[in-house]
Amino acid sequence: MTARIEQATPAAIARAASALRAGELVAFPTETVYGLGADARNPDAVRAIFAAKGRPADHPVIVHLAEFAAIEAWARTIPEGARRLAAAFWPGPLTLILPRRADVDDVVTGGQDSVGLRVPSHPVARALLAAFGGGVAAPSANRFGRISPTTAQHVADNVGDALALILDGGACAVGIESTIVAFVAAEPVLLRPGAIGAAALAQVLGHTPRAADVGAPRASGTLASHYAPMTRATLASPGALRVEILRRQERDENVAVLARAARRPADFSGAWIAAPSEPDAYAHDLYANLRALDAARADEILIEAPPAEPAWHAVLDRLSRATHGNDDDRD
Ligand code: TXA
Ligand code: MG
Repeated sequence: MTARIEQATPAAIARAASALRAGELVAFPTETVYGLGADARNPDAVRAIFAAKGRPADHPVIVHLAEFAAIEAWARTIPEGARRLAAAFWPGPLTLILPRRADVDDVVTGGQDSVGLRVPSHPVARALLAAFGGGVAAPSANRFGRISPTTAQHVADNVGDALALILDGGACAVGIESTIVAFVAAEPVLLRPGAIGAAALAQVLGHTPRAADVGAPRASGTLASHYAPMTRATLASPGALRVEILRRQERDENVAVLARAARRPADFSGAWIAAPSEPDAYAHDLYANLRALDAARADEILIEAPPAEPAWHAVLDRLSRATHGNDDDRD
């Protein structure tokens, strides 16, 4: 049985809140991507998220909250920098990793001494959180290691079977996952780039957060082959795109192309998507574009590399993971 997609009317949101209270799973839109939600105080419900996603049980999940004031129930300390980022960017596409309170369940934190917290800005997410009245644990509503969903239909296609219901709030405005900043060591660490860039964080913090390194807290979204489409995907510089296409055509291979500035060659008959040229619009469409190209069932997806500039950092991060192509560490 596949979960019903329901327009996120007040009545549907109320039903979703009841389902959460009953320990069931509900998918809901956020401004970044759709989340697969469960009552964060119900360990069995949170465990059901892992089963639905096929995600290893020791990975932490983000707890979504209705407002900043609620974080005291989850975090035992709130460093000044975290307070400032929350004041500047919540509600919005930012996740803070903070020292956890002792009563936060290990299934939420992955057994770590920290907890991920986020106050989303999407009106449906906010209404659901307000109606539910507690923290909602929610990873992206995709099968583990695959592309995050940015529409209700993506959710139904991927994990619909496990859900009580899917709230439809339209396509997500941001389109890629939240920026994650950890406050668990002396210095804040940027664990995952997102729509809120390093420069915007630096403006509020007074310094640029350190980039994640090998010793950084575990984040499944930081595994090299996360976000991958099923079809092998490869990056090509704008100047090399045409010759890379020709090379594959000579080998009788079908290629699907995610272009940006490049023009479609007159003799190209495969799937071709011209992505937006600005980073925010590109990010907004990215996962839907990858899904569409994946559905073309080509031998390979060629992606025209966007510029290596700070404004493209989050997009380049997702593209480099989508094109990693090594199944060994896909988890
Ligand atoms: O935009 C988003 O953040 C979306 C929407 C639904 O809010 N959620 C999302 O969740 O992307 P997920 O689980 O797919 O990715 C969250 C990342 C994971 O890589 C997880 O490991 C990391 O956050 N994370 C959560 N809690 C953590 C913690 N205590 N320490 C380190 N990383 C943590
Ligand atoms: Mg995810």
